[in-house]
Amino acid sequence: MDTRDLARQMRFVGSAGGWRALWAGWRRYRTDGRDLPRRGAERARVPGVALGAEPAPGGGVVRFARSALRIRVAMGGAVFCGWDGAEPEPSYALAGGCPEADERAVLEPDLKTDGWRVVSERITVVVSRHGGVEFRTPGGVLLRAESPPRWWDAPPGPARWVQRSRTPADAEVFGLGGRAAGPRLPQGAYRLWNTDPGGAFGPGDDPLYVTMPVQLVVADAGCHLVFHDNTWDGRVTLSAGVEGAGSGHDRPGGCEVRFEGGPLRYWVMTGPPGRVLRTWTALTGRPALPPRWALGYQHARWGFGSEREVRRVVAGYRERGLPLSAVHLDIDHLEGHRVFTVDERAFPDLPGLARELGEHGTRLVSIVDPAVKAEPGLAAYDSGTAADAFVRDARGRVVRGVVWPGEAVFPDFTDPRVRRWWGGWYAERLERGFAGVWHDMNEPTSFAAFGDPSLPRSARHAMEGRGGDHREAHNVYGLAMARAGFEALRELRPEQRPFLFSRAGWAGMQRYGGTWSGDVATGWPGLRASLSLVLGLGLCGVPYSGPDVGGFSALPSPELYVRWLQLAAYLPFFRTHSAIGAGPREPWEFGERALECARAALAERERLRPYLYTLAHVAHRTGAPYARPLWWHDPRDRALRGVGDAFLLGDALLVAPVLEQGATRRAVRLPRGRWYDTVTGVAYEGPGQVLLDAPLERIVVLARAGAVLPVAGADSAVELEVWAPAVGRTGGGVLIDDAGDGWQEPVTARFATRWHDGAVVVEREGEQEVGFPVRVRGVES
Ligand code: GLC
Repeated sequence: MDTRDLARQMRFVGSAGGWRALWAGWRRYRTDGRDLPRRGAERARVPGVALGAEPAPGGGVVRFARSALRIRVAMGGAVFCGWDGAEPEPSYALAGGCPEADERAVLEPDLKTDGWRVVSERITVVVSRHGGVEFRTPGGVLLRAESPPRWWDAPPGPARWVQRSRTPADAEVFGLGGRAAGPRLPQGAYRLWNTDPGGAFGPGDDPLYVTMPVQLVVADAGCHLVFHDNTWDGRVTLSAGVEGAGSGHDRPGGCEVRFEGGPLRYWVMTGPPGRVLRTWTALTGRPALPPRWALGYQHARWGFGSEREVRRVVAGYRERGLPLSAVHLDIDHLEGHRVFTVDERAFPDLPGLARELGEHGTRLVSIVDPAVKAEPGLAAYDSGTAADAFVRDARGRVVRGVVWPGEAVFPDFTDPRVRRWWGGWYAERLERGFAGVWHDMNEPTSFAAFGDPSLPRSARHAMEGRGGDHREAHNVYGLAMARAGFEALRELRPEQRPFLFSRAGWAGMQRYGGTWSGDVATGWPGLRASLSLVLGLGLCGVPYSGPDVGGFSALPSPELYVRWLQLAAYLPFFRTHSAIGAGPREPWEFGERALECARAALAERERLRPYLYTLAHVAHRTGAPYARPLWWHDPRDRALRGVGDAFLLGDALLVAPVLEQGATRRAVRLPRGRWYDTVTGVAYEGPGQVLLDAPLERIVVLARAGAVLPVAGADSAVELEVWAPAVGRTGGGVLIDDAGDGWQEPVTARFATRWHDGAVVVEREGEQEVGFPVRVRGVES
C-alpha cells in the first residue's frame, strides 16, 4: 500500500468511525479469503498460428491453433472483435443489443501479409497469421496495431489476459471515464475499478467513481475510439510515442490493456470526433434528455438541518434576485440516514415545501443511496428481505457493509426483479415532492479501514440471470442502479422526463442520466480536475456532468469560489455543493464583490439557457457533448490537443476559465478561424495564442465568427445573437426547443448568416421570416 492509499484508508476510518471501518475491512477480507474461487496453476497462451477462416455476416472468424477471432462490422461502421468465442452479447454497455452486420464487409485473404482482412466503408482490419490485428483507414494509414493477445488460463478460475497495441507516435488518449489528471491522459497506469477515493480527491487520485474501458485516440492519421467490453477489474497503461526517435524513426505510442477475467472483446470506431461519438452513442445509447429546469443553477449542501434552513437559503436567493432552479437534499433529511425515509421532525412537510418552492420555479432533488440499513422494522429493509433483493455471499448469507446509516445491505441491481422492486420505492420520493434523484455511494461504497472500500469480490450477483460475482458486477453496479431508477421514474411519472444523475457508472450510463464530479477537493488543483472530468466523460458519451462548485471538502476563498462558479456556469450540470462542515456555498457568503461576480455568472447562465437546451438536444440526437475539447473540429492541430484549461461550448463558444490563483489575464489558444472576445467585441484570428484580460469579474469567453446563438432576451424570450462572419464567409446556428419536459418532438430552426451589401443578414431555413429578434455583434471591429 503506498502512502496515498494509506491516506485514503485513514479518511474512511475518520468518516465511518474507527472500529466499525476496521471491523468491516476485516469482515470483507475474511469473506474473500474463504469464498473467492481459487485460481488453478496458470498457463500462458497465445493464439498460435492461423489455420483458416470462415466468412460470416459483416466479416467472419479466423481460427488459430489455440483461439479464434471473430470480426463483425456493424451497420454504422463500428467493428467488433471477439477472441476465444466472445460475442457482442450479453453486454451491459450495448443499448439495443448488437447492431446488424454490414453485409458489404467480407473477410478475405490478404495477399500482402498472407493473413486476412475485412474491408469496410470506414475501416480496414488486417489480421496476421499469428493474431496481430491492424486497423487502418480506407486510405491504408495505420490507426492501431495490436500484437497477438496473451492469456493466462487458470481453470477453474477465469483467464487473465493482456493486449498490447501501438498507436501513431503523435497519438493522444482521452477518456477512460472520469479521470482527474486529464483530459489528455498522461502516460501511466489507469485502473478500471469504480472507487470512492474517500474524503476528497485531487488531480493525483485515480481511479475515481466512474471508470470505463473507453479510449478516444486522436492522431494526425485520424481519430478512433476503442471500447473493451469487459466489466472486470482491469488496467490500461499508456506510454507516449516519440516522433523521430533515434535514427529518424518514430517510436509509436503504446497501450496495454489487462483484465483479471472476462471476455477479450472490443469495438473500434473511427472518423472525426463528431462521427465517433455518434457511432458510440448509437451503440451504447443516446444521452437522456434532461428536463429544461435541469440546465438551470442548482444548490446543494450536506448539512441542511431542517426545512427552515432550506427556506432561509431559498429566500436568500430570491431576495437577491438570484435564479435557483433546484435545491438538493442530502442524507441529512433522512431519518438516521436511512434511504426512503424522512426525518419528520426536521422536515415535517416536504410535499408542502416542494409546492412552496415550486411556485417560484425551484424544484427539490433527493439523494438516494443504494445501501439499506440492516434493521428489521425498516420498511425498505423488510420489503427487500421479503423480495430477496440483497446481495448474498457464496454461502448464501446476505452481505453486510457499513455506509452512512451504519450496518447496511445492498440491493443486487443486476437482477431485473430487484430493479423493479427498488424502482417501486421511487414512488415514495415522488410523493414527498421530489422532482429528481441524485444517486450516490453506488460504486458501491462500503467503508473499510483497509482494502477495497466496497463489497467482497466473492459476493454473488444475478448478472441478469447468468450468475456471477462482484468481480464482474462491481463496475456495473451504479449503471444498473441508474437503470432501475430511470425505468421507475418513467413508469411512475410517464409524462415527465426523468432527472437522474449518478456518482458511479459505466459505459452506457448516459442512457439514464448524468453524473457529477463527486467529492472534488476544494483548492485550485480541484478546480482544474473538475474540468478534466467533465471533458473526459463527455468523450466517453456522458455529456451531462459538472463539479461541486467551490469544491466539496473545505471553505474556498472568495476568489476560488468565484472562479469555480464562473467555470461551472458554462458546464451542463451547474451545482454548488459542499461537505458537512465545509462551509456554505451561497453566493452572498463570500463578500460583496464575490456576490456581484456570482450574480453576473448566474445571469449569463440564464441568458445562455436556450443555447444550452439546444446543446442538450444535440447531445441527445448525436452524442456530441455540450463541453468539447478545443480540438473537436481540428483534431490535427497538435497544440490544441494539449489544452486542458479551455473548452468549446457547442460550436459557437470557446470558454477559457481562470484556474490559477491571482491570475487576471490568461493565454488562450485559438482554433483556426476568427474569434470574438464576447465582452470587448475584439476579433482575433486563429490558429494561435492570445493573452486576454480576465479580471475577477469575468472569465474569457470567445464567440466563433459566424455563430448564431439562441439566447434569452430581457423578458426571457428567445433572441438570436449573431457574430459577424469574416467578410466573404458565412455562418449559422440552430435552435432546438420543446415544452421543456415531456416527450413531444422538439422544433428545430436552422439559421444561416452572411454578408450582403455591407451588412450581416440572417435567414431561417424554410421560412420567410427569422421569427426572432436578431442582435448582430462583431461588426464594430
Ligand atoms: C458522498 C457524496 C457527497 C455527499 C455525501 C453525503 O460523499 O459524494 O456529495 O454530500 O456523500 O451524502
